[in-house]
Amino acid sequence: MVTFRKLQSQDISDLKKLFKTTIEDFSWYSGEQKQDILKNFKADKFTTILENRNYICVVGLSDKKLIGFAFGFFSAGVYTLHWLGVASSFRNKKIATKMILKLIGYTKTKNCHRIVCQIVNINTSSLGLFQSLGFEKYATIRNHFYHKDYNFLYKNI
Ligand SMILES: CC(C)(COP(=O)(O)OP(=O)(O)OC[C@H]1O[C@@H](n2cnc3c(N)ncnc32)[C@H](O)[C@@H]1OP(=O)(O)O)[C@@H](O)C(=O)NCCC(=O)NCCS
Repeated sequence: MVTFRKLQSQDISDLKKLFKTTIEDFSWYSGEQKQDILKNFKADKFTTILENRNYICVVGLSDKKLIGFAFGFFSAGVYTLHWLGVASSFRNKKIATKMILKLIGYTKTKNCHRIVCQIVNINTSSLGLFQSLGFEKYATIRNHFYHKDYNFLYKNI
């Protein structure tokens, strides 16, 4: 059975591993760009995410094994989803859908009225996921992170 809850300190080492695998699997970033992203996400970064009141991170667990994560931060009523990933063997089972729904529940308790995210335009699975959850595209920004084109999406909650 898969369960969803907020990140806890005992999850950090597994979260770091799953985050690394998720980034390494991205086909649209160069090796150098992946290293650049990973450099910013050492264990202490995840500890900050855990301890900072403005961050919310939801994890999915299957028999105590961490199989998904979604984290971001809120400010002035807007939650910005920063990163999201599901272990490859658990994809297409609605894990990400359920994590985001759980996340929406937590953001409401923090008086957020909107969730926003930015998705590289070639990430069709992620775009499909957010559109299936009712997110709307409000802008496409060319030549953004690492010179890629990005879609900006939002959902009022
Ligand atoms: C994107 C990702 C998080 C989706 O996780 P998931 O648990 O497999 O997603 P779900 O099963 O909840 O899918 C829900 C919807 O998303 C869309 N979707 C998911 N995977 C898709 C794919 N490969 N192609 C097209 N649409 C897809 C579909 O609309 C799907 O609904 P459906 O099953 O009724 O068709 C997962 O593929 C992943 O971890 N990818 C690598 C990391 C990543 O890209 N993160 C996002 C960075 S912004």
